[in-house]
Amino acid sequence: MTATTSIHGMWSSRLAFILAATGSAVGLGNIWRFPYTAGEYGGGAFVLVYLLCVAGIGIPIMMAEIMLGRRGRQSPINTMLALARQEGKPAAWQLLGWMGIVSGFLILSFYSVIAGWTMAYVVRAAAGVFHGADAETIGAVFDGFVADPERLLAWHTIFMVLVVLVVARGVASGLEQAVRFLMPALFVLLLVLVVYAMTTGEFAAGVSFMFTPDFSKLSGEAVLSAMGQAFFSLSLGMGAIMIYGSYLSSQSSIAGNTIIIAGLDSLVAILAGLAIFPIVFAQGLAPEQGAGLVFKVLPIAFGQMPGGQLFGTVFFLLLVFAAWTSAISLLEPIVAWLVENRGFNRVRASALAGLTVWLLGITCLLSLNVWSEVQVFGLGFLALFDFVTANVLLPLGGLLIAVFAGWILSRAASVDELDMGERLGYRLWRLLIRFVAPIAVAIVFLHAIQVF
Ligand code: PHE
Repeated sequence: MTATTSIHGMWSSRLAFILAATGSAVGLGNIWRFPYTAGEYGGGAFVLVYLLCVAGIGIPIMMAEIMLGRRGRQSPINTMLALARQEGKPAAWQLLGWMGIVSGFLILSFYSVIAGWTMAYVVRAAAGVFHGADAETIGAVFDGFVADPERLLAWHTIFMVLVVLVVARGVASGLEQAVRFLMPALFVLLLVLVVYAMTTGEFAAGVSFMFTPDFSKLSGEAVLSAMGQAFFSLSLGMGAIMIYGSYLSSQSSIAGNTIIIAGLDSLVAILAGLAIFPIVFAQGLAPEQGAGLVFKVLPIAFGQMPGGQLFGTVFFLLLVFAAWTSAISLLEPIVAWLVENRGFNRVRASALAGLTVWLLGITCLLSLNVWSEVQVFGLGFLALFDFVTANVLLPLGGLLIAVFAGWILSRAASVDELDMGERLGYRLWRLLIRFVAPIAVAIVFLHAIQVF
């Protein structure tokens, strides 16, 4: 027998789940990370591999994650433990949940720093700092900002407090309303930015950069990063989607929900690219600017377009909300576990988890300035946490989820949970989850470390 509800709360409707999961997926990953990584790895071929990974690996794994979460109805650690026991398999499967906890801490620690940037940019846009400013001035504003640890710390702190406040109250209340209005608004603003990008005279260059694959640029690392971007952007492989699945009613269609969530997520990323790259080329900037790309490019548009001061302010504000709804889902698996196993109430659990993230985040923000010399594998802490989580821990988590859902969980259980009969859709999913997803992730890993 499987539980029909979670002790942590339930989504009020199918729509609430879709909104929350889309809120988790759509965030800095789409608007900050996707454009800058695509820029770094040369555009077209990277984007193509990313989209293939979303379709062939991301969608089946997202279905599996929701399915496992809904069957276990607990934090990812206890869900994996319970499901493994049900199938008579070793308790070691709970390590998957532990890995997710580590990923959650590491991702949120740098995520919060970047979210802090977007908050700071709300204020800058509102103050008219970008008005009529050229690319050079705007670049200098960014460089000056990240060189200042105190300002970064202030914004990182404010953001983490906001995240803890929501998680402490329980994610099912509040989140739904926020996402219902703010996501569509963000989407509309992105469309307006794309229209602006069309007027820059370099729209065709931007489109061609994103969609003309040049496979000579596709190193093993580029493929790994494209796959990592798919995992990161879809919030897969660390238990965020699993825990959200655990709050989903048993009646709702997992496949249908997943396609909507993944479709919206990719659409937002592509729109962000279409808004940014034409401006990059029109300004004669390089697409491989690194993590500052969005913050150095979009303000140019806000500084020039009519009403740009208001528009830029609202845009960054919506980006803060998008980051917030993602950050909440990063903290939730940890908090749920603290409540289940440590007997904490939600307030104490959220505060403790939030404090830990906050401390780790300080190492990230210092790595941008005073600790810029401190490097591990040639990367500062922020870049290291980002690389290791997106490109190693999340795909590894996803691989284990695929193996569990495809090989360990009984066929009857997945047929029952996915509830689409044994027709083509189910058979396709099973093929993808048993063979395509795990083998593809393994090949990309081996290729990246140059085994072949
Ligand atoms: N998907 C989020 C984004 O794109 C980040 C995230 C990763 C959230 C992993 C939860 C889990 O911004």
